[in-house]
Amino acid sequence: MTLAMNQGDLIYFDNAASTPVLSEVIQEMVPYLGNHYGNPSSQHTFGFNTSRAIEKARRYVAYLIGSSPDEITFTSGGTEANNLAIKGSISRLGINNDNKGTVLISSSIEHDSVLQPFNSLKAQGFNVKFVEVNREGIVNLESLLEILKKDKVMLVSIMLANNEVGTIQPIKELTKITHENSNALFHCDAVQALGKIPIDVKHLDVDLLSLSSHKIYGPKGVGAIYTRDRDQLTPLIDGGGQEKSLRSGTENVYGIVGFGGACKIASANLNENWSKIKKLRDYLIDRVLSTIPRCHVNGSRSQRLPNNAHFSFPGVKGEDIIVKLNEYGIAASTGAACSSNKAKPSHVLKAMGLSLLEIEGSLRLTLGHQNTMYEVERVILALEETIKELRRHSGFPNN
Ligand SMILES: Cc1ncc(COP(=O)(O)O)c(C=O)c1O
Repeated sequence: MTLAMNQGDLIYFDNAASTPVLSEVIQEMVPYLGNHYGNPSSQHTFGFNTSRAIEKARRYVAYLIGSSPDEITFTSGGTEANNLAIKGSISRLGINNDNKGTVLISSSIEHDSVLQPFNSLKAQGFNVKFVEVNREGIVNLESLLEILKKDKVMLVSIMLANNEVGTIQPIKELTKITHENSNALFHCDAVQALGKIPIDVKHLDVDLLSLSSHKIYGPKGVGAIYTRDRDQLTPLIDGGGQEKSLRSGTENVYGIVGFGGACKIASANLNENWSKIKKLRDYLIDRVLSTIPRCHVNGSRSQRLPNNAHFSFPGVKGEDIIVKLNEYGIAASTGAACSSNKAKPSHVLKAMGLSLLEIEGSLRLTLGHQNTMYEVERVILALEETIKELRRHSGFPNN
């Protein structure tokens, strides 16, 4: 596994926002930006070359999540996959007398690309309920069960791993109680989990699953949706009938090839790669907790993505930490970086019951294959200095 770019002395600890594209992936993509330019729908050698490349990529994506290739539809990314899963499975119903009481369920810690489609459906008259999470960010099974028993539920959408605090949900248990107690479809946003923890759609028993390429060392602007039964979805984009009419539009061939390449590499050594990162991450967390006073880790220590460290440093502002760390050449984040730079308190941390002081002083550090122990040490030192300095200004005790 080779990383494409060396950015001098800069340290990148924001791999949940996006990852560098692997050199091997770029090499696989380049021919599809050059000689292989045929439209995959064309009935000649140029078209056959690109459509073959798409089908090969589809097999790699499918293999990584234990599905069959014909259950994979390529999209422009995780956001589109989530919108297609949610709006595509519900909008065809419309609001009529038969489904007036229909309830749609999600959790209070989802990514905006899940929350906003639900808000749109709510505006159309659907009854949307958000299940609570505990202090570690784990969905409350009893609350879900209670709604399933009481209401006529059509769709449940709960993420596999959270983008801010890295908490992993018990999806197998959630699908079990959903399918035992309703006819609802179960959708899962697996964008952050893909390639980091093993995913098997058959074992998880999900109906729909969303994926994205740029979180797993592939290019941006491409993703996919797994559909157990594609007939349950209505397309959001109509047109030439590509992707078996579920997602029209000439395919992003080099993006799809890159996504496939990234999935192939992720499948090859899933556990081995991440155990190294997990060790670095655990060291980072332990050292921060022991060297910086009055701070804590957010989310679960055990049910957590291997690359996520998320802290609260009361008495400082997360945005100020980011600015200071950037001056040290370190890229970090306060949380959901893929949304625009809106400075509103994190809905995830709020739902987990953190105080405003804890939310304001939050910092997410997400590691990747490019990171080293030397970088971890530099981040710890820079963070120690940063918090000391910011607390000196704010008057918050630092001992
Ligand atoms: C959990 C989660 N879902 C969906 C998305 C959106 O994916 P994309 O950037 O491919 O649209 C993200 C992006 O950060 C994410 O973290």
